[in-house]
Amino acid sequence: MPTKYNFEEIVSHLKSSGYVYQGSEIYGGLSNSWDFGILGAALKKNIKDLWWKEFIETSPYNVGIDSAILMNTKTWEASGHLKGFADAMVDCKECKGRFRADKLIGDATGLSAEGKTFEEMDKMIEENNIVCPECGKHNFTNARAFNLMFKTFIGTLEDAKSAVYLRPETAQGIFVNFNNVLRTSRKKLPFGIGQIGKSFRNEITPGNFIFRVREFEQMELEFFCKPGTDLDWYKYWVDTCYNFVRRLGIKEENLRIREHDKEELSFYSKGTSDIEYAFPFTDWGEVWGIADRTDYDLGRHSEASGKELNYLDPETNEKYIPYCVEPSVGVERMFLMICCDAYDKEQLSEKDERIVMHLHPAVAPVKACVCPLSKKLSEPATALFRDLAGEFHCEYDEAGSIGKRYRRNDAIGTPFCITFDFDSETDGCVTIRERDSMEQTRVKIEDVKQYIKERIAF
Ligand code: GLY
Repeated sequence: MPTKYNFEEIVSHLKSSGYVYQGSEIYGGLSNSWDFGILGAALKKNIKDLWWKEFIETSPYNVGIDSAILMNTKTWEASGHLKGFADAMVDCKECKGRFRADKLIGDATGLSAEGKTFEEMDKMIEENNIVCPECGKHNFTNARAFNLMFKTFIGTLEDAKSAVYLRPETAQGIFVNFNNVLRTSRKKLPFGIGQIGKSFRNEITPGNFIFRVREFEQMELEFFCKPGTDLDWYKYWVDTCYNFVRRLGIKEENLRIREHDKEELSFYSKGTSDIEYAFPFTDWGEVWGIADRTDYDLGRHSEASGKELNYLDPETNEKYIPYCVEPSVGVERMFLMICCDAYDKEQLSEKDERIVMHLHPAVAPVKACVCPLSKKLSEPATALFRDLAGEFHCEYDEAGSIGKRYRRNDAIGTPFCITFDFDSETDGCVTIRERDSMEQTRVKIEDVKQYIKERIAF
């Protein structure tokens, strides 16, 4: 069941509270480009840090790299992106509007064009007399391929030889470094290589706020294993990723794992599952894709580069191309899921309503806010703030009534407010107020740091 709040309300809250800004706003914006504000940058960083910690640093299997965005164009020839990374697109001959054919068909008829050929899509547009969403006319070009990679040029010449592409996924930077990682680590199969980084796709129809954007960040893991063990590892990573999302506090009823059926699978994939979330703007939207990619990628790069991307099994002395299982997730999608799931409005009394973001404390941008009850208490309260700020992201707020300060912090998802009052100087304690339950606990000042550290751990 999707959140009971409508998407516009959540987006408006994220914009007004400093999570997300319109990109290039003072110049009228740039369509579908967003900047992450003070809180958004912190939430994004916390998501990435958690992923890195769980999937790389504390994983018994995985290591991390950081490869370049611009890669030799042969990479994209070998991976198939230059030929095949395209959406079917149609133009309206009347108003020149450009549309993704499957979306045009889906929006107008509710029918799925998944896996249909260009000719079949043309037929669907004709038979259903689909009209242009911009001008209302029915006069489209035939469907044709539109490559989603952004093209640019290296150096001063803008010719075919200097053309390069902004990577559309971080995965290929991992595959081309397979031998380098083997050479510079002591890894034996099974092991994974992960990375976090920006990717770019010239989407024909971006939208739904930060759900589908042209510039985004991915957290990708390519997990290599012995052929024949891949399906077990595939299940292992589906479970691991799902548990990660559940541990973040995402509600079970808003999540599902959808296994792709045969028609939807890439020709090289033995299995793909998406972890989907019930976003308020759609039935289900993909957040995390887990795919068994077999030996396709290493095999293609081996063939195209002439460099063997093999593994010599030290136990059996067999040489083979490992199979690969890929869990791939977009940071912005995870961000949006977390925010949609956390957003809540609570009626506390007839006159008192609060907006509260029930964020997991591990990803909350601000972990605690020190609130002296009076400005006369600034000095000892500031000393406590400085001490805590050395350990985790802490804010200091002495403006307005204590109730208003609680509400401000609830609205941005701060899990703890620490009230320094007149008794604090004599009893050496402060009141810690917890965001979700609103319960208040008296805690010794010297124990506050540990109290909060224990409660913001993942
Ligand atoms: N590497 C898979 C993806 O970018 O979707």
